Amino acid sequence: MAAPPQTEPIPLAKPEIGAREEELILEVLRSGRLSLGPVGERFERDFAAWLGVDDAVSASSGTTALHLGVRALGWGPGDEVLTSPFSFVASANCLLYEGARPAFCDIDPVTLNLDPAAVEAAIGERSAGILPIHIFGFPAAMPELEAIADRRGLGILEDACEALGAVDSEGRRVGTRGNLATFAFYANKQMATGEGGMIVPSDPAVAARLRSERNQGRAADMGWLDHGGLGFNYRLSDLAAALGVAQVERLDAMLARRAAVASLYEQGLAEVEGVSALIAARGKERRSWFIYPVRLAAEIDRDAVIARLGKRGVAAKAYLPCIHLFPHLRELGYREGQFPVAEAATACSLALPFFPAMAESQVARVCEALAESLR
Ligand SMILES: Cc1ncc(COP(=O)(O)O)c(C=O)c1O
Repeated sequence: MAAPPQTEPIPLAKPEIGAREEELILEVLRSGRLSLGPVGERFERDFAAWLGVDDAVSASSGTTALHLGVRALGWGPGDEVLTSPFSFVASANCLLYEGARPAFCDIDPVTLNLDPAAVEAAIGERSAGILPIHIFGFPAAMPELEAIADRRGLGILEDACEALGAVDSEGRRVGTRGNLATFAFYANKQMATGEGGMIVPSDPAVAARLRSERNQGRAADMGWLDHGGLGFNYRLSDLAAALGVAQVERLDAMLARRAAVASLYEQGLAEVEGVSALIAARGKERRSWFIYPVRLAAEIDRDAVIARLGKRGVAAKAYLPCIHLFPHLRELGYREGQFPVAEAATACSLALPFFPAMAESQVARVCEALAESLR
């Protein structure tokens, strides 16, 4: 592969789409079955087989998968669900859709995931469950959180939307512990279908409920105009499922490539003063690389760095804002200063361009541009 020109803009993310995706998309187009066809079922089977679970239920996005999960756990008005403020907004919104309240707890300063001690301390009479997020592909402390949930009789919904392929501290792939767990396939994710999501059910009855609710409340044996209860149109189109089938086929290679790009960054940034790794492991957990976030030293003006990188054709983003400070969560009473560890992570983190096809020369260019932008 020829090295990309040194002046070409480097985007933050870029999906891997090739001949196999084109072939499977064309097959669907020619079949005339654009929804509810065989490729949708095949995607669910292939995904479940790759992950190592009995079943997986596709959805139109990670957000709709989370919403279905919240409903399956029966969380609603009067319930509080313990969750992290350092996440993408959908992990809190999915609770609000059902009238449940996100009860934010601060994060671990090393892993940036939900701190089990903070969760334990925040449990109250209304606590109904825990919604851990495996942030930036880094596995949350599931054994500890599950122990708390067992002791206190709480349900668990794992937001694994950024963590396909991550392995937890007990050597288990994220999403395979028997909890409801969601994945997402937006174009920047480890695998992409444009829009798309998946939910791993906790048992066959839950799977049937998820499939019915994503399909307007129809049970498997019902006709188009039969509805056994409230439902949504959260189906994944067969065009997206075709992309999914092709992406699962190349998932191992894409994950390996992401890890290789991450280690190029590690080498390239080792000597850059003021820049360090954002997250570290506490135990044996292994991340699945989603984005490449770094920590900037406190005295560095991040906005200025982003602007300077932009002038050099390098995309970068402050990643990510704390959820509890968005207007609709402030309405619930949340304020600055409540979750100091999460707020500190938000203040110093910067995401650099990161995608499987990134060439060594592009990583080098980003590292150089970053070093120059700090001066
Ligand atoms: C942690 C987390 N949760 C949920 C979502 C929602 O996924 P989607 O964008 O597919 O709705 C995302 C996607 O960005 C995410 O990063």
